[in-house]
Amino acid sequence: MKIVSIVGARPQFIKAATVTRILRTDSDIQEILLHTGQHYDKNMSGIFFEELNIPEPDYNLEVGSGSHAQQTGLMLQGIEEILLKEKPDITLVYGDTNSTLAGSLASTKLHIPLAHVEAGLRSFNRKMPEEINRIVTDSISDLLFAPTYTAIENLKKEGLEKITTFTGDVMYDSVLHFQTKILLDPGLYTIQGIPQKYLLATIHRAENTDNPENLKNIFAAFSKLPYEIVLPLHPRTRKFIESINFTDHHIHFIDPVGYLPMLNLIMNSEKVLTDSGGLQKEAYFLNKPCITLRTETEWVETLHDDWNIIAGSDPEQIVNAVNRPLPAAPRKNAFGDGHAAEIIREKLVGFSF
Ligand code: UD1
Ligand code: UDP
Repeated sequence: MKIVSIVGARPQFIKAATVTRILRTDSDIQEILLHTGQHYDKNMSGIFFEELNIPEPDYNLEVGSGSHAQQTGLMLQGIEEILLKEKPDITLVYGDTNSTLAGSLASTKLHIPLAHVEAGLRSFNRKMPEEINRIVTDSISDLLFAPTYTAIENLKKEGLEKITTFTGDVMYDSVLHFQTKILLDPGLYTIQGIPQKYLLATIHRAENTDNPENLKNIFAAFSKLPYEIVLPLHPRTRKFIESINFTDHHIHFIDPVGYLPMLNLIMNSEKVLTDSGGLQKEAYFLNKPCITLRTETEWVETLHDDWNIIAGSDPEQIVNAVNRPLPAAPRKNAFGDGHAAEIIREKLVGFSF
């Protein structure tokens, strides 16, 4: 069978690395990899292909940055052309970015079956562009791969249970796979020049970067914390920080790093502060308490026993959350058994057209 897999943004390279590796163990599957070019800087795209051994994309649309409509429109046009040429049996999309949305729309309009990895996530906040992308993608998919039972429940409520499979989370597969590699030689993945004891932070969500007030509040909280902070900067956040000439000796701003150095940074941190979906989960998988710099999370499983605390951009809540004692109870496993990608492969192969 022929599958066109569509990726475009950083978290999709990480998810696809695991799924692609497993799909390509089946000689009956021919996978065509389509990169929309939504992310294009070397450290937002190329490094992941290199370090995670993701095959070179068969196509790169190089759409780059733009407004939602511009970016999605360009992708739609480019993806349609490729789907018409390749005539796949199925299109595979990941997560909730504009690349996901464009891939989903282009595919279903051509009556090509659509499968969605990381289906059923809901923040119930329709102001988030990702929420719209997820709702549309799930509603027009033919196969939904749900990473958690909460996702299954969300899909049930939308009448989509018949096409849904619980797979577990491919990002959990990924952490298990690559953690072993890091532990064999951690020195290879260590970032030089960062403090011994630190909090790891990332910020890139529109609600924080497009709202100077929120970002200023977050930095105000950071300056009160009893640790230094290491913050790999998403280009979107870097632009804002440079525009206001912000500096704080307490915060070590570094360029975005590769996936293995990032996992290593999490493993050696005291706690994680983030508005990233992926990082909330990785902190949980790696037994690090997380403070979420948003007012809600899709990953509600991580909230038990304060393993993850929702603090938004409120300085007091952020400081209180960081100062909380470590969780007493061990984390639970709600993200599958590390074989999500294998389940996805079996369901794709067994799909009847
Ligand atoms: C996108 C996804 C978001 C995901 C994030 C992962 C959507 C709507 N959002 O957000 O769900 O969490 O990716 O990181 O799809 N830029 C560069 N170089 C790059 C890429 C981006 O400089 O290689 C800058 C550009 O100024 C661009 C901005 O970052 O305008 C935002 O990029 P974009 O891809 O539109 O959205 P993200 O914020 O990255
Ligand atoms: N990540 C990375 N380098 C960085 C920042 C993040 O490899 O400098 C990884 C992170 O470990 C996770 C993924 O990127 O696997 C999360 O992507 P991001 O936060 O951009 O998007 P989200 O998950 O919020 O959609």
